[in-house]
Amino acid sequence: MAPAHIVGWGRYVPERVLTNDDLARTVDTSDEWIRTRTGICERRIADDGETTSSMAVQAAWRALETAGMSPSQLDLIIVATATPDHAFPATACLVQDALGASNAAAFDLSAGCTGFVYALGVAADMVDGRACRSGNGEPGQGGLALVVGAETLSRITDWTDRATCVLFGDGAGAVVLQANDNQGGVLGTVLGADGSGGDLLILPAGGSGEPPSHRTVAERRHYLKMRGREVFRFAVRAMPEAVRDVLHQSGLNAADIDLLIPHQANQRILEVAAKALDLDPERVYSNLDRYGNTSAASIPMALCEAADQGLIQRDDLVVCVGFGAGLTWGASAVRWSAPLPVGPPTVWRRSRYTVLQSYAWLRSLMRRFVRWLFSRGMREES
Ligand code: ACO
Repeated sequence: MAPAHIVGWGRYVPERVLTNDDLARTVDTSDEWIRTRTGICERRIADDGETTSSMAVQAAWRALETAGMSPSQLDLIIVATATPDHAFPATACLVQDALGASNAAAFDLSAGCTGFVYALGVAADMVDGRACRSGNGEPGQGGLALVVGAETLSRITDWTDRATCVLFGDGAGAVVLQANDNQGGVLGTVLGADGSGGDLLILPAGGSGEPPSHRTVAERRHYLKMRGREVFRFAVRAMPEAVRDVLHQSGLNAADIDLLIPHQANQRILEVAAKALDLDPERVYSNLDRYGNTSAASIPMALCEAADQGLIQRDDLVVCVGFGAGLTWGASAVRWSAPLPVGPPTVWRRSRYTVLQSYAWLRSLMRRFVRWLFSRGMREES
């Protein structure tokens, strides 16, 4: 099997910044408490018009641009999210339509904050399989997948609950994966779950277990609930274990890691994990201070930011590790094979993607129009 390589990356964060001081004006908390207990200083909050899919699309265009690929080359789109636009259709299908990715299968993946690592593992296996091979690639190249982590956690955050509202933020990150015969790429993935801890981090109502009702709204059961201390204990154990497991699978050890990209939940969790793995703090990427916990978006956002900052060089060993609702955990070891840095986009490249974006918009409009015409014609016939 040809390994899957990250050949493009992109991220998007909303413009609106919510600082700790802003929060201290609405709930009983303080900048000092939030900084010292979590490492978070501010987070981004989606505007009214923004959704998980709209942010995912922004990140996806940037990832495609870095890869120099067009949406029609994609065979597969996976969106990892706990805050889809709707229960169905899948957010990945909305992304597929907005990109005009006419050859891509699309589905969502729900694994809490570990969602992106799960999606990366699934996509890495699929790009070289028969389920995902359109023949778009060059000879010796397999399928092409877009893997996105995107969240609008602000919509499920209880802004009156100081124990949770200080933690979360919105954003999206995406990578383009391609199977080819080059050296490196995704070396291995380990994934795990323990559903007995499902109640530690849960959105109680809105699903088939607790359909929406006046009671569920009155009791604020459409907001995220978390038993923070227990999640903390689970995280500090699960993260180093997952990293050791994925390295062991690839015949490597922690000393080989050039950059660890952990799920950004709490700076203290990152510090404990770094210590357990005997890693210098500078080899553990953190942007928690600026974005807070963005669940499935946090790892791809951090990965893209590190790549853009030139912190990842060709042949570097990058390990992504996550934990979250489920409970779930997972790690992925990647030998970085894409050339870096890419540099600012040229006018030609920018114009090409502006044209592709307009084409995608027109394509979607035309398809809706043709569907409307057909349904009108059928009504008149009957
Ligand atoms: N401001 C001020 N005081 C607060 C706040 C706040 N925002 N929140 C809680 N407190 C108080 C509590 O009421 C408590 O007061 P008490 O001692 O009088 O009862 C005190 O601070 C300590 O509360 P703890 O919950 O024990 O605080 P802790 O040090 O454990 O920190 C935190 C809480 C930050 C949530 C921590 O437990 C944590 O990070 N846990 C992991 C969370 C996590 O990673 N979640 C993401 C999972 S991934 C996913 O799938 C979304």
